[in-house]
Amino acid sequence: MEKKELMYEGKAKIVYKTADEDKVIVKFKDVATAFDGKKKGEIKEKGLLNTAISAIFFELLEEKGIPTHYLELIAADEMLARKVEIIPIEVVVRNIAAGSLVRRLGFPEGEVMEKPILEFYYKDDALGDPLMNEYHIFGKKLATAEELKIIKKMAFDINEVLLAYLKEKGIDLVDFKLEFGRDKEGRIYLADEISPDTCRFWDSETKEVLDKDRFRKDMGKIEDAYREILARLQA
Ligand code: TMP
Ligand code: ASP
Repeated sequence: MEKKELMYEGKAKIVYKTADEDKVIVKFKDVATAFDGKKKGEIKEKGLLNTAISAIFFELLEEKGIPTHYLELIAADEMLARKVEIIPIEVVVRNIAAGSLVRRLGFPEGEVMEKPILEFYYKDDALGDPLMNEYHIFGKKLATAEELKIIKKMAFDINEVLLAYLKEKGIDLVDFKLEFGRDKEGRIYLADEISPDTCRFWDSETKEVLDKDRFRKDMGKIEDAYREILARLQA
């Protein structure tokens, strides 16, 4: 399938139309940003690594009956996907305290949650992706109650699948961010990506950080961490 016009360009990905109006090509960039784009850099081969890592996760989730936008890999840094309208909500699931949970609410970093925590953020760079609750979502008509019920169930189901799978690979799934979209019939699919850009991964034994926090916090060896994640998923 060939790329047609550019449909959307985000910070980490470019979406192109294809000859099939129900399908798009998603190209993953090497550009890395953090803090709503205020910090910018490049992570060598990030496009390829995140494409391969996301494809593995999407295939796993599809196998477990979770509908995703992923269709197939068409190049090292490109996937064919279902065309969906992205719902502008970042859905975050947390198993271990880190990042803004520590900063905002004072959880001790590394504390294991008894039950996973679910949060919603409004996907709007100009506003700084603020935290919001279901009333805000309905007030802004971002999703219906029925859609949000499906999204919440999918988010917790995805967490269960990924936790079990990553445990086998010696990786702690600390937290992650999901985005969902609806197709023209209104069906909800997991969209976007699942990668070290959008998850926190810690080595289960050493607690070494194997994700984008290495870029956010200038910890070095960023590419090595992304490569290590792919290698473990492929093992
Ligand atoms: P946080 O602790 O900074 O709120 O991040 C929670 C999770 O969401 C973490 O795995 C990183 C991911 N995330 C994104 O994918 N995009 C974002 O814009 C932010 C802020 C976090
Ligand atoms: N991806 C977000 C940005 O570029 C933030 C982050 O992942 O830290 O601003």
